[in-house]
Amino acid sequence: MDTDYQDITRPNDLESFWMPFTANRAFKKNPRMLVEAEGMHYTTADGRRILDGTAGLWCVNAGHRREKIVKAIQKQAEKLDYAPSFQMGHPLSFELASRLTTMLPGYDRVFFTGGGSESVDTALKIAIAYHRVRGEGARTRLIGRERGYHGVGFGGISVGGIVANRKFFGSLLPGVDHLPHTHSPENQAFTRGQPAWGGHLADELERIVALHDASTVAAVIVEPVAGSTGVLIPPQGYLQKLRQICDKHGILLIFDEVITGFGRLGSSFATEHFGVKPDLITTAKGLTNGCVPMGAVFAKQGIYDTFMDKAPEGTIELFHGYTYSGHPLAAAAGLATLDVYKEEGLFERAAELAPYWEDAVHSLKGTGPVIDLRNLGIIAGIELEGIPGKPTARAMEAFTKAYEKGLLIRTTGDIIALSPPLILEKSHIDEMFGTLGDVLKTLH
Ligand SMILES: Cc1ncc(COP(=O)(O)O)c(C=O)c1O
Repeated sequence: MDTDYQDITRPNDLESFWMPFTANRAFKKNPRMLVEAEGMHYTTADGRRILDGTAGLWCVNAGHRREKIVKAIQKQAEKLDYAPSFQMGHPLSFELASRLTTMLPGYDRVFFTGGGSESVDTALKIAIAYHRVRGEGARTRLIGRERGYHGVGFGGISVGGIVANRKFFGSLLPGVDHLPHTHSPENQAFTRGQPAWGGHLADELERIVALHDASTVAAVIVEPVAGSTGVLIPPQGYLQKLRQICDKHGILLIFDEVITGFGRLGSSFATEHFGVKPDLITTAKGLTNGCVPMGAVFAKQGIYDTFMDKAPEGTIELFHGYTYSGHPLAAAAGLATLDVYKEEGLFERAAELAPYWEDAVHSLKGTGPVIDLRNLGIIAGIELEGIPGKPTARAMEAFTKAYEKGLLIRTTGDIIALSPPLILEKSHIDEMFGTLGDVLKTLH
């Protein structure tokens, strides 16, 4: 007998699922259930349409339930449900890796993972192992940044800089240091695009490297645009300076492009947008349009060869991998997603819409408790003045009210982040900022 699991709209029990990054008790008293999606919209269990202002969690860049992607997954599941990637293979993962490397000249290898956190751990491990196989095994230190988000693995929270994600989990990885974050409302508020102030903050890397000595430092990891801590746009010249300092000291630079990859900035990747080439690039989310979990780490030309040159033929060169690395369903979803991006010119579309988006974002100046607005590509950060003694309460009120009015937004602290699917029309932008403006005016 067929069971139409997708028709379950009222689960028997909400208690068994320990929900991630959620106020579980509050949610279970007042659940927000999404049961269907198409294009720019979700449908809720009570039949309301919600405009997706966040592409799910920054991942559904081509919009929801795209036929080509759905079909690719269905057909692949019917043909080959699972195949290991350890000492075995299946054609689609190779095909996808090859397609990905053609998107990013200068990066000739791709390591598949199950998502962003695994991509980050993979990149950190490759960096440390790379130095070791080159005979510089003392290079083990990792440098992240305050307010950085690199997922939730122990590597990611160690180099990350979000206090709540770190403080409950013990002493984390040893040998990690942090750059200062680049957010300075006094100097940057209401900037359109990249702030002019703050490029000098990259010089802090020289101080940190001098403290530890370059011979102990493996890698620096940053998000080119920090998303999860409230949309922090890199100051002009900042990323270029990080690259120069890393080059000077033989340190690998890792860009965490889990949200900036696959068109979010109006270019394929942030590395292209900013003209700065890191050594390793972590991706996930938009890689499969969020349909099947998958991540990928891009390695700059030469890194893979170093591992191959140093290990005897026939031996495993990198002792790392996941059961789901290159999963057939994810690979099929990835290939179809890349086709949709290309056929519909979605990255170019994002670039074309970016100026209209920017004007819409900045039209909120002076509305309710807004104290800063920032934007790049199809990303917006809307910072609210917090209620004294009740941090996050005001943004959470905005989230709930927007949801009631049919708009999905995302909040972190008292900052609202918007990152809709790249198929959006100008009318969606008008609706999004119209609804949000109305909500902001009613906040306590
Ligand atoms: C920059 C960055 N890195 C890593 C991650 C973690 O990805 P995942 O949740 O797929 O593990 C995220 C998720 O939002 C992210 O924004």
